[in-house]
Order: sequence, then C-alpha cells, then structure tokens
Amino acid sequence: VGRLVAFQDYLFHAMFSMMLFCSVFVMYPRAAVSAKRIQEILSTQVLIKDKESTMNVPTVNEHTLDFDHVTFVYPDGEEPVLKDVSFKACQGQTIAFIGSTGSGKSTLINLIPRFYDVSAGTIKIDGQNVQDYSMEALRDKIGFIPQKAMLFTGTIAENIRYGKEDATMEEVVEAAKIAQGYDFIMEKPKGFDEVITESATNVSGGQRQRLSIARALVKKPEIYIFDDSFSALDFKTDAMLRKALKQVTKQSIMLVVAQRISTIMEADKIIVLHEGKVVGEGTHKELLKNCSIYYEIAASQLSEEELAYE
Ligand SMILES: Nc1ncnc2c1ncn2[C@@H]1O[C@H](COP(=O)(O)OP(=O)(O)OP(=O)(O)O)[C@@H](O)[C@H]1O
Ligand SMILES: [Mg+2]
Repeated sequence: VGRLVAFQDYLFHAMFSMMLFCSVFVMYPRAAVSAKRIQEILSTQVLIKDKESTMNVPTVNEHTLDFDHVTFVYPDGEEPVLKDVSFKACQGQTIAFIGSTGSGKSTLINLIPRFYDVSAGTIKIDGQNVQDYSMEALRDKIGFIPQKAMLFTGTIAENIRYGKEDATMEEVVEAAKIAQGYDFIMEKPKGFDEVITESATNVSGGQRQRLSIARALVKKPEIYIFDDSFSALDFKTDAMLRKALKQVTKQSIMLVVAQRISTIMEADKIIVLHEGKVVGEGTHKELLKNCSIYYEIAASQLSEEELAYE
C-alpha cells in the first residue's frame, strides 16, 4: 500500500507540472498582447507640453481671465466645437455658462487648464497666455470640479487632501462643511476615515459631487471651475452650497456651468452658448429681455411670475 501511495503521489506531481507547462502556452499569447498595449500607453507622446522656456507667474493686484476670439476643433474632429468665443472675468466675479447639451460648455472650460490647446485665439490668465505658464503653475491656480465627479480608492479625508496634500484636518473639515458634506460624512460609521470603494459605489451621486467640491475648496485656488457640479443636488442643498461658496470665493473667479436657471440666476454674467457660439451675454434680467434662447430655457424652468422681468 505504501508503494502504491508513493507512486500515486509522484504521478500527481509529474502530471501537475505538465499541466502548468501547458498553461504557459495558453497564457503566453495573452501576455504578449497585453504587454504590447501597455507599451503603447507608455510610449504615447504627450501632445500638450510645457514650452521650452516658460514664463514666471505674473504678480497682479487683481486676477483676471480672458478669452480672446477662441476657436477650437477637437484633434479628431472636423467642425469647430467653439467658434470665436470672447469674454472677460475679473476677481470676485461669477461667470455662468448655460446652453443645451453638446453646445460646448465642457469643451470651453477644459481649455483653461489646457486639457487641450486652442486652435485659434488666446486664453489669458492674469494677462499671460496659458501656454506660457508651466503646467504645474497653471493648474495650481485652478480648482477644477469635472462634470463626472471622480473619487479615488482611499478614505474620505485622503480624497479631499488630493486638492492640497499638506492640508490640516481643520482645513479638510472646513472644506467639507462649505461643500455641505460634513453632515453625511459624520453619519458614516468612521467619519472622515470611511473608505471609499473603487469607483465610489458606497457614496451617492450627490455625495460624490460634494466630496469633489470639497477637494477643490481645500486648495483655495484663484479660479474655480464647476462643470455642472450641482446637478445631482436637491434644490435646498444646492442653495445652501451656493450661499456658503459665496463667502469663500470672494477673492476668486468662479466659472459655473449649469443646466438649472436657479443655480446661475445671481451670477454677475451669464454666457449663453449655442452650437459653440456665444449667443447671449449679460445678467439674468438682461438676457430674459434680449436673448430668445435664454428665454426659452428659462420659460421651461420658471413660473410666469419669475419670468416677468420688469
Ligand atoms: N473628446 C472629444 N472629441 C471629439 N468631439 C468631442 C469630444 N468631446 C466632446 N466632443 C463634441 O463637442 C461638442 C460639445 O461637447 P461638450 O462636452 O463641450 O458639450 P456640453 O455643452 O458640455 O454638453 P453637456 O451639457 O451635455 O455636458 C459635442 O458635439 C461633442 O460631440
Ligand atoms: Mg458638459
């Protein structure tokens, strides 16, 4: 019996090795293809680079943002997505963008941190072309809240600290409070140490948006860019958030993309985009009077009394 067991054991070892050896033949082609794809990514040339000689960050009394006849065509597109867009924003102002889906709102604001370079025209921050800044200096000035709120695996506090690595706990808590996230964070069993799972499945859409707003707030940038960042919030939270934001963004330029008229009604300037062109510019009241596209959007959302502009 002893010999038989030993024989069986040896046989099993030999067979197992053979099987492993065979699986190499199955795995090899897969690995080869994967390696090729990884190599492709690693060897991709970055299209948007720092210039060889970048200029220093200018010191100014008042921060400004200028769009000067900006036209933009996506690298793989034919038709321009933005056509001859010009506007100016100063420190302390809130500029809002509204327009139907696909009118180019996200495209427009993506040009500011240089996710793409303009095809014609210039964008200037503090009077200096964005292309003359180093990437680091440029993005340091900007707090960007993308349309699709992205969170990373890690705790809530870590996620907020992505905005500013050396932020103290007080700063993190303050940012969370302004972003109206403090209450729901405290309801989590571990509070700020609650772990966000991969692709943030354990927080709701609106909570995700508020965390990504907190991440931008902790940085205290000169320019805030909100791309439809209030869309998943209920009207009450939206209003409270805007009120709290007003207090902390007095020294900054706020750019807000929104679909809801109520979100942007109080902006200093509203820019109406339609098929990549600016078709209206002014305050809520001015636009109701002068811009038919804005009036149509407003009419679909507001009551008769609210629409009366006199
Ligand atoms: N990466 C891209 N490559 C090519 N075309 C694009 C790209 N991203 C957007 N577009 C096109 O540019 C146009 C404007 O898109 P954009 O995302 O700026 O719209 P939007 O105003 O932000 O819309 P929404 O309100 O739905 O967010 C669309 O017609 C879209 O198809
Ligand atoms: Mg968009």
